[in-house]
Amino acid sequence: MYRSRLSKNLDAHTLGYVSSVTEDSEIFQYDILGSQAHTVMLFENKILTKKEAAKILAALEKIKKQKLTAKIQHEDIHELVESLVVKKTGSHIGGKMHTARSRNDQVSLDIRMKIRDDINTLCSNLIELIDTLVSIAEKNQETIMPLYTHLQQAQIGVFSHYLLAYADALFRDLDRLYVTYGRVNESPLGSGPIGGTSLPIDRLSTAKMLGFKGLVENTIDATSGRDFVAEYVGTIAILMTNMSRMAEDFILWSSFEFSFLELSDQFSSPSSVMPQKKNPDILELIRAKTAQIIGYQTSVLSIVKGLASGYSRDLQQIKTSIWPTSSISISTLFILNAMLKTMKVNKQKMRKAADSGHLIALDVAEHLVKRGIPFRTAHNIVGKLVQVAHDTNKPLVKLSIPQMKKLTKDSKISAKELHQIIQSTTLESSLQGRISLGSSGKREQERMISVRKKKILAYRIGIKKRSNQVDDAIQILMKKVKAIIR
Ligand code: ARG
Repeated sequence: MYRSRLSKNLDAHTLGYVSSVTEDSEIFQYDILGSQAHTVMLFENKILTKKEAAKILAALEKIKKQKLTAKIQHEDIHELVESLVVKKTGSHIGGKMHTARSRNDQVSLDIRMKIRDDINTLCSNLIELIDTLVSIAEKNQETIMPLYTHLQQAQIGVFSHYLLAYADALFRDLDRLYVTYGRVNESPLGSGPIGGTSLPIDRLSTAKMLGFKGLVENTIDATSGRDFVAEYVGTIAILMTNMSRMAEDFILWSSFEFSFLELSDQFSSPSSVMPQKKNPDILELIRAKTAQIIGYQTSVLSIVKGLASGYSRDLQQIKTSIWPTSSISISTLFILNAMLKTMKVNKQKMRKAADSGHLIALDVAEHLVKRGIPFRTAHNIVGKLVQVAHDTNKPLVKLSIPQMKKLTKDSKISAKELHQIIQSTTLESSLQGRISLGSSGKREQERMISVRKKKILAYRIGIKKRSNQVDDAIQILMKKVKAIIR
């Protein structure tokens, strides 16, 4: 449709190579809405007559309901929609729809509308996942487990503490998405190819009709900039990385050796050959799909980093990184949430693993500190004690006073007192004594859970309000469309 300057058509193979019409199905509906807002604005500013606007809008309404059969003979969705309008209204009318805009502002608009909706979906799914983590945490405030560093037993902890750690990481993801939304939610429409137009358009009015908070004001920026895409995909890459880390823990913990968790059969896979197998394939795929999205982020940044300002066709290829980023992350949130809700927490196994080591070591050392012994000396005494326990194959509590004599001889504390401290230090008393802010301590679990519950409520309201704002604007636009068509 656009090839008046050129004497020859692209051959079919080449057209297939340059066309984005297939992947553009994701922005089909947004493209139509954008065209409707633009047409209404052209009418309201006397660039189109009411009759012309009515014809174009009616055609767009029909196209909206059509099942999109993407045809490779079109370069992209913008050309496809415009050609359908022209077909329905004739070029003397439909040919006026593209007045004072360009595909360059159009495509950025469509992507922004799509990402805006996707962020709202992601935020809703994220808050559900966080809610699940906090609910499971609430039920596991006394589920004792070892905490690991270097994957070696480190300190005694509780399962709720672990779950809340990921709730907090996901809250940060939510917060990032929440802020990114504000930068995505600005309209580039009416920028034209790069430098604006001489026609009396009203960019603020189309922005408002489409529910945008404001404009990407500078028309060069609006048509060339894709940092909002990089920000979105990057934010999702971080979110996926957090979920991937959690997936790795769950894979490990559902092994026979750990058996801390058991995934529901519904979310496990069998083996084609080993009848006993129950594999955590879904969690493994979360890890791998995270890698895929990190790849998309690299792709987006690599496409943009060397481009001269102003639209270049390279930007078309960015879209193929956005759509799967959205669909994969939305599904991951959904599936991970369902997996968490259905998995079994094996409290006995967790407790048993915590019993078997020397997890009270640091707590014992801190008891010595409370008796005025420098921490380094306390660390030394308990370290040697653990060595004795290890060599004699006994837990710390089973060591005798004579075995402690040599270790305490240069310190302020007697072997008898040390023995007494060890005897009275249990997993429970250690947790009771853990009082620092954000620690595994019992009171901290209660406090953190209640703060996070309030935060969930506040976010839920905010997310709802935002998607309502867009819906309301589109509804008003539709009323205008209907009034003009009538
Ligand atoms: N198909 C293009 C894209 O997706 C639309 C913009 C084309 N603009 C142009 N000047 N060729 O990015």
